[in-house]
Amino acid sequence: MHDIAANRFAVRTAGMEASEIRALFAVASRPEVVSLAGGMPNLAALPLAALSQQVAQLVAEDGLTALQYASAHGLPPLREQICAVMALEGVTARPEEVVVTVGSQMGIDLLTRLLCDPGDVVMAEGPSYVGALGSFAAYQAQVVHVPMDGHGLVPEGLRAALRRARAAGQRVKMLYTIPNFHNPAGVTLAVERRTEILEICRAHGVLVVEDNPYGLLGFDGATYPALRSTDPDNVVYLGSFSKTFASGLRVGWVLAPDEVREKLVLAMESATLCPPTLNQMIVSRYLAAHDWQGQIAVFREIYRERRDAMLDALERYLPPECTWTVPDGGFYVWVTVPEGVDTRAMLPRAVAAGVAYASGSGFYTDKSGGRQMRLSYCYPTPERIREGVRRLAGVVEAERGPGLSTGSPAPVERTPAASGGELRYVRS
Ligand SMILES: Cc1ncc(COP(=O)(O)O)c(C=O)c1O
Repeated sequence: MHDIAANRFAVRTAGMEASEIRALFAVASRPEVVSLAGGMPNLAALPLAALSQQVAQLVAEDGLTALQYASAHGLPPLREQICAVMALEGVTARPEEVVVTVGSQMGIDLLTRLLCDPGDVVMAEGPSYVGALGSFAAYQAQVVHVPMDGHGLVPEGLRAALRRARAAGQRVKMLYTIPNFHNPAGVTLAVERRTEILEICRAHGVLVVEDNPYGLLGFDGATYPALRSTDPDNVVYLGSFSKTFASGLRVGWVLAPDEVREKLVLAMESATLCPPTLNQMIVSRYLAAHDWQGQIAVFREIYRERRDAMLDALERYLPPECTWTVPDGGFYVWVTVPEGVDTRAMLPRAVAAGVAYASGSGFYTDKSGGRQMRLSYCYPTPERIREGVRRLAGVVEAERGPGLSTGSPAPVERTPAASGGELRYVRS
């Protein structure tokens, strides 16, 4: 009896753990707690009345299609519109090259299923997106973190990691990277590094998986050239409508080289038969009937104001030994606290003080990141952000103890992301 229970689950489930962020959701969503933990987009700015009319009309006029099964590949009109979205970042693609997925999370999961055997290596920035780490663990892939700085992934660090993997006889299957407005680090990969990283991966026979849900959310409206735009044969591009339209619709996509794409459609079929038809049609009609780029500009302005509120509050309230990244788009700031403070251990005390964050260790598979935390500014209002950071500062101050609060502080080393104008890519 006991043995049957012990063997009930597949061996690979041993790597499946609830993420720290998920575990925190219940407490952090109490109204008295300012949550700087989640990455929920701010949907209040959407034109809900117009959307509800459009959805009602869609079901009335086209319900028999919208509520029916469809192709595992995704609806052709939507795939065509997705090509126009990607063109904003310099990507040239044909609709048949796009596979619609249930959010880009499903793209990550299915790609890992297709590419990785147990023990295969996935290179990923350290820190990296927690949902991707979950998929890598579920397929027993081994994650090797590659260092980042204020300008994103460090090419020399990647080279060294690949050399070490080769020397150890490991099979590296992909580089998973978030080049723009990184989750959780808040930094952006410098344009100068992009070609170099592509060349390194090509030379080592490693596929690049470019995850880009935030690329259109740069605060100055500029976009960066997608990695995919330079090396279409060796880059799989993942996109999403979650951050630029509606996360609950769960519509994302994958643009992949032919051989990967063919397998991906089969994997979609076995995972879900087809992505939700109704949701695809909602997105498609939204793109056709609304000024979706104008709506993204509205989102950008909201997030820029919130980013500013957070940076001001960090500067004003946090102890001087703290450092943080300065995002120029997206949702997140990555904060480093003084030595001796453990952000994971501190979290329950922060929640008791009325503020929640995501502790840094959740964004690494090797549990480093103990002195880091991710703060999200996407959801709370600027006033709540200021209040949340004020509460957080009190907790950090108490945590580091009296011994550290006296004497001369360590030099403040703020790492601006893509700070120089020369790093920006502005499409004409
Ligand atoms: C880097 C990154 N990739 C993928 C996702 C998942 O997005 P989707 O809602 O499209 O599944 C997220 C969501 O937070 C993300 O931050």
